[in-house]
Amino acid sequence: MKNVIAIDGPGGAGKSTIAKLLAKKLNYLHLDTGAMYRAVTLAAINENIDFDDKEKLIKLAKKISITFNKNGEIILNDKNVSQEIRSSEVNAHVSKIAAVKGVRKVLVEKQQNLAQKNRVVMDGRDITTVVLPEAEHKFFLTASLAERAKRRYQEVKSKNNDADLEEIKKSIARRDKLDSEREHSPLKKAEDAVLIDTTELSIDEVLKKMISLIEGEN
Ligand code: C5P
Repeated sequence: MKNVIAIDGPGGAGKSTIAKLLAKKLNYLHLDTGAMYRAVTLAAINENIDFDDKEKLIKLAKKISITFNKNGEIILNDKNVSQEIRSSEVNAHVSKIAAVKGVRKVLVEKQQNLAQKNRVVMDGRDITTVVLPEAEHKFFLTASLAERAKRRYQEVKSKNNDADLEEIKKSIARRDKLDSEREHSPLKKAEDAVLIDTTELSIDEVLKKMISLIEGEN
């Protein structure tokens, strides 16, 4: 699949930051699929839907409108929710909702449609394995848990919000476990995806490495 770059990896590995920069550099669209699962979760919270009621969650996923504006920000039913979807309440429930097969089906269809119509850099958990296994370039970005927690902590702090490093570490570890052990589309490295451990690398170094691989210089 030409002009499609797929990136997977655990939370806090730098996927979205890198995907955004890469998309800008290549003049592609950046699609953060985690934001889509977060938007469904936010809608479920707003509508007081029981997180165990799979039927209602699937209905909700079909009913709501999830789009991206030209800055790659997520729009839920005409409202820009790019900040709201990062709340600790959404963090706490998103992996449970993302484990529902029918919810995934709705979002995967949207993601595949978007990739067919645009040149995209798409990041998530199952992009290289399930959504776009035929992507022209496939990457798996990871980093140690301690480093990923530290990055999230600094990100929250930089926005002048209170943060607790140990709590963040626990929350990321919990999502890692749920995402990797779930039955449908678990997080795992596709055999043909290029593994990049970003623990010791700067954003710039990761970006350079990916661009040289994309441009075939390595
Ligand atoms: O990438 P981010 O951390 O924002 O993703 C939030 C959650 O959405 C993940 O922990 C995972 O449960 C879910 N997700 C998923 N499949 C994707 C992207 C995200 O299940 N492609």
